[in-house]
Amino acid sequence: MANEQIEAWLHEMRSFEPSATFAEKANVSASEYGTASQDPEAWWQQQSKRLTWTTAPTKGLEWNPPFATWFADGMLNASFNCVDRHVEAGKGSKVAIHWVGDGEGEERVITYSELQELVSKCANALTDLGVSSGDRVAVYMPMIPEAVIAMLAIVRLGAMHSVVFAGFSADALASRIQDSDCHFIVTADGQFRRGVPVPLKPAVDEAVNVCPNIEAVLVVERTGTDVAWNDDIDHWWHETVDLSSPIHNCEGFPAEHNMFLMYTSGTTGKPKGILHSTAGYLVGATTTYANVFDIKPESDICWTAADIGWITGHTYIVYGPLLNGVTQVMYEGLPDSGGRDRWWKIVERLKVSILYTAPTTIRTLMKWGTEHLQPYDLSSLRVLGSVGEPINPEAWMWYREFVGGNNCPIVDTWWQTETGSIMISPLPGVTSTKPGAAMRALPGINVDVVDEAGKSVPNGHGGLLVITKPWPSMTRGIWGDPERFEETYWSKFPGIYFAGDGAKRDEDGDIWLLGRVDDVMNVSGHRLSTTEIEHAIVGFPAVAEAAVVGASDETTGQAVVAFVTLKLSEDEHENDHAVIIEAIRQHVSKAISPIAKPRQIILTPELPKTRSGKIMRRLLKDVAEQRTLGDVTTLTDPTVVAMISGLMGQHSTED
Ligand code: WTA
Repeated sequence: MANEQIEAWLHEMRSFEPSATFAEKANVSASEYGTASQDPEAWWQQQSKRLTWTTAPTKGLEWNPPFATWFADGMLNASFNCVDRHVEAGKGSKVAIHWVGDGEGEERVITYSELQELVSKCANALTDLGVSSGDRVAVYMPMIPEAVIAMLAIVRLGAMHSVVFAGFSADALASRIQDSDCHFIVTADGQFRRGVPVPLKPAVDEAVNVCPNIEAVLVVERTGTDVAWNDDIDHWWHETVDLSSPIHNCEGFPAEHNMFLMYTSGTTGKPKGILHSTAGYLVGATTTYANVFDIKPESDICWTAADIGWITGHTYIVYGPLLNGVTQVMYEGLPDSGGRDRWWKIVERLKVSILYTAPTTIRTLMKWGTEHLQPYDLSSLRVLGSVGEPINPEAWMWYREFVGGNNCPIVDTWWQTETGSIMISPLPGVTSTKPGAAMRALPGINVDVVDEAGKSVPNGHGGLLVITKPWPSMTRGIWGDPERFEETYWSKFPGIYFAGDGAKRDEDGDIWLLGRVDDVMNVSGHRLSTTEIEHAIVGFPAVAEAAVVGASDETTGQAVVAFVTLKLSEDEHENDHAVIIEAIRQHVSKAISPIAKPRQIILTPELPKTRSGKIMRRLLKDVAEQRTLGDVTTLTDPTVVAMISGLMGQHSTED
């Protein structure tokens, strides 16, 4: 984000008080902050009663920094808590998932009873295929109910899911499978994108070629397109799951039993497998969902417009809503599948009351114009959420005015794959909100903004965001790499969690998030590592060196900009620049994902370096954002940056 932009943002003075009518019926009152802060551990123990346990825990937190356990002597089953217990409580006929397909008119309605049967069948089929407690199962799926069913069936057996976003390439899928040694994959033949079938199975086949430990691949027929078939390991969902018994009695697992892995980008080239354990994660998911969105399970229709391939989909499509027993909308398509008014049609017809999405989507919808939503009755909406990146005040105000009719609290929720659930957010009905601020830590969560020395900054100052006390849904580690876990999050300020985000505390003490302070970028709410993209670019044969920066972008928040030097002299290849640039972009797309493809590639004979040989990414960011250059005195050759600035307009491509 450009500094001027942040400055403008921080002078934002508007504040919106909760309405009296909302506050009257709100799930949480302001006193909750006080109760929780007096004794956070006791407060979380109280929240753990939201779950159904086969053995209730007597223990709360055990803390050996940086390793925590929560409720460790309790036993429970995650899937039972999401599904069976609602059926046992007489709510079996309530709709759990109202699925809306990419194509208009294609819908499925699944009640809690039906979900119980489907999950049980899937658990039985997975058992027959050899899945058992402790196994890792990769899930590479479109946004169809089977994705949720598979995740619930996997954890029902005490196995772990590792969901890989279906937009990732075969290489990215394979490296994630290898890192955690998955022996099983659940996938589909393909997925629909604006009515066009896009294959998925070929990427799985390619990954399987380099993952010899794969024993079985379970395949949902979604698009009906032809797929290659390996009789030894491939199994159709409709020939296995559909024919399995709908009865599956599940057992309780220890509270700290590993539940899932979610790979995410870090500052090094290699994605890390963020590990979550069972009870603490579920307590965080159910409590934050109920509080932050003021969930009324009897009447709310909830829609988290995200993908299950990201942590938001895990916590607020699968676990949070199902633990709370709500009816939710699950949407397969893009915001404009079938037209730019598609979302608003869905909101009106299904009477969506809770909507949760990312700023990048809000900005896109805003760009398309209000004419697409004005014909629709959106008065069913009560709470609007934002997640994934800082939301600029314009987008926040648009969301409030045009989507929420000036009548819905906006909750800007800050959290991470590692935190498992929301950490900082307004509470609807309690907190006065400011456009662009995440406001304050939730009850039971303790955060601070500190300087480089770890000292709390006074109001009106910026610094680094830290979480000062352990919380139930915190990650239990990086798969197979405890050292990296300690080093990344716990070494900067010992015993305190360093989030990697910059933040500011305003004059009232409210928190504003200012983006990452490390080499992680946020493109359309997707977390990408600059190093990982640099590695991919350098893997391209003609490339000598690459420096990648996240430049601010009006729609996507940040965009990938790459500065690249070629192995051969530029002159020899002058005519082929456009071809090489396109080939590098395709190469990145294949190595990581289309979302990592640079928006711009600038071919340059040199990169700016310090005398010790470090590439000055800070200056390249200035160049990419077309800003006045910062301090260049430490460079070996200060003229290099000016030359690169000159090249920006010439040798670049944009989508
Ligand atoms: C950023 C997504 C500002 C932040 C749930 C964090 C945000 C990273 C917000 C985690 C927000 C998330 N305001 N920034 N409301 N929410 N972020 O792991 O930089 O995909 O560190 O989790 O997204 O991304 P992740």
